Amino acid sequence: MSEVLAEVAAPEMARSIPHAWAGQMIRPLADKGVGTPASFVAKEFVLERVRGDEVLRISALGLYRAFINGKRVGSDELTPGWTSYDVRLSYQTYKVSDLLVPGVNRIEIWLADGWLRSQMMWGQAPIFNTWGSEIAAIAELRAGAAADAPVLLATDDSWESGELPIRKSGIYFGEIFDARFKPHPTDGTAVIDFDTARLIPHETMPVKELEPLEVVKQWTDPEGRTVYDFGQNAGGYVAFDVTGAPGAKVIVEHGEILDKDGVFYNGNLRTAEARLEYILAGSGTEQYRPHFTFQGFRYARVTIEGEAKLSHIRLIPISSVTEVKAGFTSGNALVNRLVLNTLWSQRANFIEVPTDCPQRDERLGWTGDAQVFAGTACYLADAHDFFKKWVRDVMADQREDGAVPHVVPDPTRLNPKDYPGFFGSTGWGDAIAIVPWQLYLHYGDAAFLRETLPAMVKWVDFVWSISDGPIVSPPRNWGGRGFSFGDWLQPSGPSAKPLPTIGDDAAATIYLYITSTLVARIARIVGNAEVADRMEAMASKVKAAFASEFVTPSGRLCYDDQTSYALAFLHDLIPADKQEAAKAYFKATIARSDGRIGTGFIGTPALLPALVKIGEPRLAADVFLQEEVPGWLYQVKMGATTIWERWDAIQPDGTIYNPQMNSYNHYAYGAVCQWLLEGVAGFRPDPEAPAFTTIIFEPTIVPELSPVKAYHDSPAGMIRAEWTLDGGKVRYEIEIPARSSGVLRLDQAYRNVTVDGKPGSTGEQTLTEGKHLITFDYSAPPRAQRDGTNINARTP
Ligand code: BGC
Repeated sequence: MSEVLAEVAAPEMARSIPHAWAGQMIRPLADKGVGTPASFVAKEFVLERVRGDEVLRISALGLYRAFINGKRVGSDELTPGWTSYDVRLSYQTYKVSDLLVPGVNRIEIWLADGWLRSQMMWGQAPIFNTWGSEIAAIAELRAGAAADAPVLLATDDSWESGELPIRKSGIYFGEIFDARFKPHPTDGTAVIDFDTARLIPHETMPVKELEPLEVVKQWTDPEGRTVYDFGQNAGGYVAFDVTGAPGAKVIVEHGEILDKDGVFYNGNLRTAEARLEYILAGSGTEQYRPHFTFQGFRYARVTIEGEAKLSHIRLIPISSVTEVKAGFTSGNALVNRLVLNTLWSQRANFIEVPTDCPQRDERLGWTGDAQVFAGTACYLADAHDFFKKWVRDVMADQREDGAVPHVVPDPTRLNPKDYPGFFGSTGWGDAIAIVPWQLYLHYGDAAFLRETLPAMVKWVDFVWSISDGPIVSPPRNWGGRGFSFGDWLQPSGPSAKPLPTIGDDAAATIYLYITSTLVARIARIVGNAEVADRMEAMASKVKAAFASEFVTPSGRLCYDDQTSYALAFLHDLIPADKQEAAKAYFKATIARSDGRIGTGFIGTPALLPALVKIGEPRLAADVFLQEEVPGWLYQVKMGATTIWERWDAIQPDGTIYNPQMNSYNHYAYGAVCQWLLEGVAGFRPDPEAPAFTTIIFEPTIVPELSPVKAYHDSPAGMIRAEWTLDGGKVRYEIEIPARSSGVLRLDQAYRNVTVDGKPGSTGEQTLTEGKHLITFDYSAPPRAQRDGTNINARTP
């Protein structure tokens, strides 16, 4: 198996010294453009001997898969990956000596449409040839890993080309593979104009296949098609073995759910065909899995045309995150499943780029989703390099005036016709600051803060410029300068009597405060006092303006919805003299929605931490644990195996919500896992000593969740935090990795604290590395009533 190399181990270093390529970017003359058969470029070459240190550097416009002497190079999927191709294109480096022979060798590079030119964006205005209309390959084989090692072979126009059995492929489309078609050279190649300075070593772990998921149930539908249930919604593809006659066909469709009658359903894919077609060669047992596409699904519906018999079909999940780095279990099975669902949604949406969903004609790097999920993502997996790569694309796609696009890599930057102004939304663009900050907290990456600070400042200045002042008033029209998604998908209750939701101006102004404050803090950390001073000044203007614009004299926030209070309390935007009153109004918003959640994409991650912050852990627990819609546990109860895009994606009677925007695999609402780890299990990184050098332990006891067990395999080592509540007594056992220290902060309400058997206190207490046992008495605070009257709250 050909190994990976230093360039992969240390892409940062290699990034700084652009490689001097001997190879040229060559396009197959056999290629007939987007949506036509995939093609290959190939070359025979002679080696006197195989030295044992031969290295292949390779990349492509479009997706590639390379073979030497018929054997595949590496096992990375969807190479070279997805970046803002017109600015940055990743290349891979492989040791290939084990594939080479003395004498005649043959290298063949398969090429397909991929993200470069297959459909991007959705239905009404699909974009093709987004980053270019020509697929092409660049490769060089050198005798040794050194950048200037002797060249044994390099791409040039002496290479030949031909079509492949892949008769059509696309990220959304799927793949048609005709096994009867034997690839053979029919044409040559041509060198295309390409600046090799765009090529960068792939900056993150490659996309890999994960453990296959076997069929858990199958049945034949009235039309004679077989539906296979793999028991888990995932991002990936099927693999199967088949025998049959030449020309017989296996057609595979993909769906995430069954409808209320238990029938296969994929009406929510919109214009993504997500379909595989395999045409048999008729040569004994044939094996197939797609090459240049993936689907988001739990169910596969298979139609056989002609004489063929399928055996051993399985679902192969793929992801850029292959290792699980954290876990949370409790006494509540629904909650435990919710955590697993979040993990599977991360896997399915961390395929080269943090995407919104893996199934429909979208699958885009939505910035808002990434920022709300970044904290959780860094716990559940090692997301360091993955996010660094992506944030560099955010900077590549950032507009001159500082506007950050809605999705990255951004198909609309080079193709704005149908998507004018597809950038600049507060809550989404703030990913440029919030994601690097999470990488600093989790991995201590100050260098990346330094690298990204200028882009952050450009963004904050853009937001200020939307309304040229501290109060940001986004236009309502999509594409308007500064248009904002507000609190996307915030539930508003029954349409006849809707509940209040946050206004775009309040949401935008709050985010200007959040990010200007954060950028000031980041500038201090990297030693840029000038920027820090300017951002701090801006933040205090915004805070003052927020108070006068959105906080009424009674302490009620003007939109009086859950998101306003959650964000304002979490980010200290409510003047001290109004806080008690505002707390009562906040609690009233929850009573008004029957104790159920009333927040969307940006409000949801703030709701529970804000309730704990204002001293309402019981209310936070009640909102989290209630099982009706809208709520986290409702979807688990309804059989979800990943996180839904909408709280109400399936109605209690099984009715499916409007398919036009209804994904069953969106990680955004999975951001609640950060609260389970940091709030309930109670450990988080200390910003003053990031990367878990110092760990803050501050558990929130939720009796219904006992026993709670959580761990995080952090950059500092393994962290554990577990508690049980028994007869009013809590045992809190924690483990601090070597060379780290802990700070214990316990809620004032917790009594008779002991630490390692000695009397302790609820005040801050430092803990050394190793295991510790903390015990304290816990008495449940009174519950809020569900009938809208708020026994706790003093209604002004
Ligand atoms: C995407 C979301 C995104 C939202 C913003 C949706 O289509 O799926 O992930 O955040 O649009 O508008």
